[in-house]
This record gives sequence, structure tokens and C-alpha cells, in this order.
Amino acid sequence: MIIGGTSGIGLGLARHYWRQGARVAICGRHPERIDGLELLEDGLVSVHACDIADRAAVARVVGEFADDAPGAGDAPCAPCASDAPGAGVVTPGAGLDLLIVTAGQYADAAAIARDRGQALPVLRVNVGGLDHAFSAAAEAMMARGQGHLVAVASIAGLQQDYPGGSLYSASKRAAIAICDAYRKALAPFSIAVTVVIPGYIDTARLRELNDGDASGKPFLVSEREAVERIAAAIARRDERYVFPWQLHALVRLFNRLPTFLKRVRKK
Ligand SMILES: NC(=O)c1ccc[n+]([C@@H]2O[C@H](COP(=O)([O-])OP(=O)(O)OC[C@H]3O[C@@H](n4cnc5c(N)ncnc54)[C@H](OP(=O)(O)O)[C@@H]3O)[C@@H](O)[C@H]2O)c1
Repeated sequence: MIIGGTSGIGLGLARHYWRQGARVAICGRHPERIDGLELLEDGLVSVHACDIADRAAVARVVGEFADDAPGAGDAPCAPCASDAPGAGVVTPGAGLDLLIVTAGQYADAAAIARDRGQALPVLRVNVGGLDHAFSAAAEAMMARGQGHLVAVASIAGLQQDYPGGSLYSASKRAAIAICDAYRKALAPFSIAVTVVIPGYIDTARLRELNDGDASGKPFLVSEREAVERIAAAIARRDERYVFPWQLHALVRLFNRLPTFLKRVRKK
């Protein structure tokens, strides 16, 4: 299941898993965005209207997909296999094995100056929404004692001082922290948590934010390459995957600069 799969990185990942023969659920507020795409033709892909900021809606969509998925209830959960309480109980809702959250909102100071209503959704989606999704998926996965949760954060979340984009940066920092907290909490249930921390990826949304051309962004990665790298990190079950390394190194260097030099960059 991919929440935020109706465009960009999420849609690329949906295509990747569909080509591998997986059953894929794509969620977003605007499912009509992918009407007519080839991956909808063979019945392996389902599309669900869902706003990740709506906790009840996320729980419903995740629960329904997990209950319907082939394999749901097929296996007793690993912790229940022996003499633990609930041993041998076959629990519905066990069919979800991978949840990827790519849903995200961006607003910088200029956007907030134009419309103050843009600030809160950044937090409701990037922070609250991620927790809604992980919480609902964990519920389904814990019953089986296996699963994998993935979130796409941003290298902006590693940057201590992000002029103009500090709200987005803080929201992605919180997303990384949410992943770390869930990883620790769910480890006893054999549920892995991966946080992907990318730099600039040449998606339609990034181009839209940059007047149609993102080519000036440092160490820009194509959407296709980003999808391949993210899928590989998921397959390895990495805890954290930061790329590209060049931008990561630059951010680490920038974080170490004295304040007066950081101010030069702000100008
Ligand atoms: N592109 C980059 O350079 C870059 C770099 C670092 C991190 N990221 C992160 O990577 C993720 C994907 O970015 P992208 O460039 O692929 O952007 P995108 O094409 O705009 O993808 C965002 C997806 O999130 C969905 N979404 C937004 N708000 C939602 C909500 N309230 N509920 C459910 N779905 C929602 C959108 O679908 P609907 O409109 O249908 O809801 C869309 O499918 C984002 O989290 C972004 O912050 C991107």
C-alpha cells in the first residue's frame, strides 16, 4: 500500500511493485489523477480516495485493504506460534506486508505569506498523517508478527537551519523521529521501519515549485533513479537511507558552519 501514490515518487514505486507482480493499493486525495494509466488494467492495482490527515479514514482504508489482501489470516503470527497468549489464533487484517508513505506537503515562507492557511497542512500531513498511517498499518501487521513500514522524509529534515523552509524541514525532522520511535516499538513484532531521506528529485511537483524547471537544484536525481534507489533500500530493509551522498555531505558541512557564515547563505 502506498499512501501518496497518485503522482511522483509514490506512483513510480507503485509501478515498480506492480511490475514485480505485487498487489498494490494506491491512496491519495485525488485518485482520478491516475485514471487511464496502464497499471490499472489487470486488476492487481486498486485505488483508494483517502486524506492521510483524517485518522479515521486512514484506519478504514488500511484495515479494509489488509483484510481483503490474499494471505490475510493465512498464517498465525510469529509471537503467537508457541505458547504465548493467543497462540494459534488466526487474525484477520494480516495481509498487508508493506506500507509506504510518500504523502507530503510543502510550504515555504513565501507561500505562507500569500496564504496563511498553508502552514498547518504541512504538519497535519507530514507529521500527523504519517502517524495515522503507521499506527493503522502496525495494527494490521502486529497481528501477524511481520511487516514493513516505510516513510519518505527529506534531507531538509537533517538541515539545522533552512531559511524560509524551516516548517517543512521541522516536519520532515519529526517524520524521521516518528520512524525511529516506531522502529524501536515494533522491533519485538518483527516489523521493520525504513525512513528514506532524499535530496532533490526531479518530479513534476518539484518542477512546479521551481517555475517549471528544477535543473538548477544541486545534485538533482531523476525520478526513475530515485524510485530504483528507494526500492533497493526497502528490499535491504535499511533503517535509514539518505541520498545522494553529495548533498548529504554538503548538509553535514553546512550544519557545522558558524552562524555568521550561515547568515551569508541566507542572503
Ligand atoms: N521531489 C523532491 O525533490 C523531494 C525531495 C525530498 C523529499 N520529497 C518528499 O517525497 C514525497 C513525494 O514527493 P513528490 O515530489 O513525489 O511529490 P508529489 O508528486 O506531490 O506527491 C505527493 C503525493 O502525496 C499525496 N498527498 C498529498 N497530500 C495528501 C493527503 N493529505 N492525503 C493523502 N495523500 C496526499 C498526493 O496525492 P493527492 O493530491 O491525490 O492527495 C501525491 O500523490 C513528499 O513527501 C516529499 O516531501 C520530495
